[in-house]
Amino acid sequence: MSQALDEIKIGGLGASRKRVEDDRFIRGRGNYTDDITLPGMLHMEILRSPLAHARIKSIDASKAWELPGVHLVLTGEMMATRNLAWMPTLSYDTQAVLATDKVRFQGQEVACVVADDPYIAKDACEAIDVEYEPLPVIVNPAQAVAHGAPVIRDDKENQPDNVIYDWEVGDKAGTDRAFEQADVVSKLKLHYPRSHPSPIECCGSIADFNRATSKLTVYMTTQAPHIIRAAVALVAELPEHMIRIVSPDIGGGFGNKVPVYPGYVCSILASILLERPVKWIEDKSGNLISTGFARDVYLDGEMALRRDGKILGVRMHADADHGAFFSDAQPSKFKIGLLHSTFACYDVPAAHLTARGTYSNKAPGGVAYRCSFRVTEAMFFQERMIAAAAVDLGMDPAAFRRMNFVRDEQFPHRTPFGFLLDSGQYGKCLDVGLKAVGYEEFRQQQQAARKRGKLLGLGISTMTEPLGAGNSREYDILGIKMFDSADLKIHMTGKAILRTGAKTQGQGHETTWAQIVAHELGLPAGDVVVEEGDTDTAPFGMGTYASRSTPVAGAAVSMVARKIRAKARKLAAHLLEVSEEDIEWELGRFYVRSAPDRGVTIQECAMAAYSNMPDGMEPGLENTAYYDPPNLTWPFAVYIVTVEVDPETGVWDVLNMVAVDDCGIRINPMIVEGQIMGGLTEAYAMANMQFITFDAEGNCVGSNYMDYLLPTAWETPGFELHSEVVTPCPHHPIGAKGIGECAAVGGPAAFVNAVLDALSGTGVRNIDMPLLPDRVWEALTYRRDISGAPPVQADG
Ligand code: CDP
Repeated sequence: MSQALDEIKIGGLGASRKRVEDDRFIRGRGNYTDDITLPGMLHMEILRSPLAHARIKSIDASKAWELPGVHLVLTGEMMATRNLAWMPTLSYDTQAVLATDKVRFQGQEVACVVADDPYIAKDACEAIDVEYEPLPVIVNPAQAVAHGAPVIRDDKENQPDNVIYDWEVGDKAGTDRAFEQADVVSKLKLHYPRSHPSPIECCGSIADFNRATSKLTVYMTTQAPHIIRAAVALVAELPEHMIRIVSPDIGGGFGNKVPVYPGYVCSILASILLERPVKWIEDKSGNLISTGFARDVYLDGEMALRRDGKILGVRMHADADHGAFFSDAQPSKFKIGLLHSTFACYDVPAAHLTARGTYSNKAPGGVAYRCSFRVTEAMFFQERMIAAAAVDLGMDPAAFRRMNFVRDEQFPHRTPFGFLLDSGQYGKCLDVGLKAVGYEEFRQQQQAARKRGKLLGLGISTMTEPLGAGNSREYDILGIKMFDSADLKIHMTGKAILRTGAKTQGQGHETTWAQIVAHELGLPAGDVVVEEGDTDTAPFGMGTYASRSTPVAGAAVSMVARKIRAKARKLAAHLLEVSEEDIEWELGRFYVRSAPDRGVTIQECAMAAYSNMPDGMEPGLENTAYYDPPNLTWPFAVYIVTVEVDPETGVWDVLNMVAVDDCGIRINPMIVEGQIMGGLTEAYAMANMQFITFDAEGNCVGSNYMDYLLPTAWETPGFELHSEVVTPCPHHPIGAKGIGECAAVGGPAAFVNAVLDALSGTGVRNIDMPLLPDRVWEALTYRRDISGAPPVQADG
């Protein structure tokens, strides 16, 4: 007789359990880095460069030292005496901590002041006198490779120009042949503009070096605390076991809190020198001007097409503007991240991609803003190309996609760039989306509206995203292989504590990881507390970005719970006085196969682990699992938007947006929906309003919230979400695929395609994002493409 628990009631897999972390957040009881105050704590502020490219002739900090309350002024020269003026980047380049020879972007860190309070430190920064000799400025790849361009990285040996890499992947000869056979060749040039993750909480750290114990504790805003500990150990040559990195509550990361920033390094050095805790909290303009920019890629594509719509081949060239230091936060062995995941969901026989990375006088870029390492650019390129090709072929864009999708029976499918797709139902997702948006009816309305002078448009975007870096074969950070971990301790009363190597920044891990334990062990999710972010207690892991948590750390949670269940089975056999082989499992309970009424709960097994274990068994019920995924997970989505464009002003309004996401098994459907809505909101912002750029002098234009607009609930359109397509991941222990980024990755192209569809018949093929009203109006009025790309004209 089964006494199995109701999984939904205990908050297991599929339960829309309310987020447990929200309790403290909505009561104002979160514990963010800036909430932490330590006895004797000092405050650090950073002096930033006003110029984008200039030689430093002199730095006079004497007036700053004289201000009462100032304890330390750090300059590049002082850092250099400790071999800390430069630090390694995640992409095997070097980055200045404090400038010594030149400044290379506006906002670059030049000096730091540590004082009794942040106001004194700020005043002291202003008292530092820096003499600059301005140099010519480069703000785009075309300028970077132009004849006679100034060499930005003249600090590096063997760097005669501004080119960082030239990289290629794919089958050039096969792709050339495909183009020879093509009936139609469709071309498109795009710029995916710079954007900024702009989490509400800026970056910050409190370094606390204790001379008596030789222990360095750093509270900081990092998405990857263990990687920071390893970096501090390797760069500062401190013993790793004497370093504790604590990542407390984080107010959004979106990739912005993956890199190591100069402020972290300087606060650590200052604490070691002063033997007092030193706090650095970045201000909003400091965050927007200097940290973790994303995108900034110029894409030039061609598709070889058969007249009936079959894609024969794809060619793509990318020019990536990396800024002054190549510090892409991407762990793959591929030079430009996963850009070659482009066209993965389409059955493309041949493809070839070339990419060139260049330096410019901008802050370092290449952060994977809610994205798996350039997948956003890859999917944007793909879906804009597909839309343009459908126009060139005179084909319906939905039918064109359907014809070229990888079909269900083709899995596992190897893409022309070598990725292995393992599962999906692409056609079904498209069907659900088209039905939901009322595709045929909308096309009729669009025609009718045209006759009345109204411009309606419909845009489709699909995406599949490689989520879950590692595996360890192809992914590492500075040589450290990609995997993740979970550590589970079941106390004797059946309550539990789970720690993982991931680090939530708002995604709800405290809620969802407990649900996985509930699913595996039958413990109520409310009996499992989840902790992340403290390197002294959490098992070693690679942190949270690239929607890798569920595919990797989430899988480790399942695996560790299964190890616990295996030991609990032995305890159950002992308690029930039968052999292990005679024991069956149902959620939360072991029972005797031949006598189902005779059973013990998982809680009874937990008690026995501490009070009544069989002879020879090690006491306790705890374990650790490290998980190296055999493959990435491949979620899929279809996003469809309808818009109306006002021809008088270029303003466009979203009429409807439908999202069909297949992320395999959903642990917590409510949280998944929240992730999708958040991603769609960011996609809308990128397509519609977020504008941060650089003028010819390298001044960052838009480094404030007056210009760089974050949509509020007022501006954000409504979204209709669909969850009826579920294709479990075949290699994930619970069949889940990542979801956190999908909508931000796939969403932008849907909006852009919709506006361009509204402009169909005008000959306008492209408007670069953001589709600001003036750009749309200009395109419509003058019937021309609008490029957001350079050359940037000097003001006046
Ligand atoms: O790495 P990150 O946490 O940003 O992304 P994710 O692994 O896609 O997970 C985002 C949130 O959605 C987490 O709380 C997950 O546990 C949850 N999720 C889920 O409930 N079901 C899935 N199939 C995927 C994610």
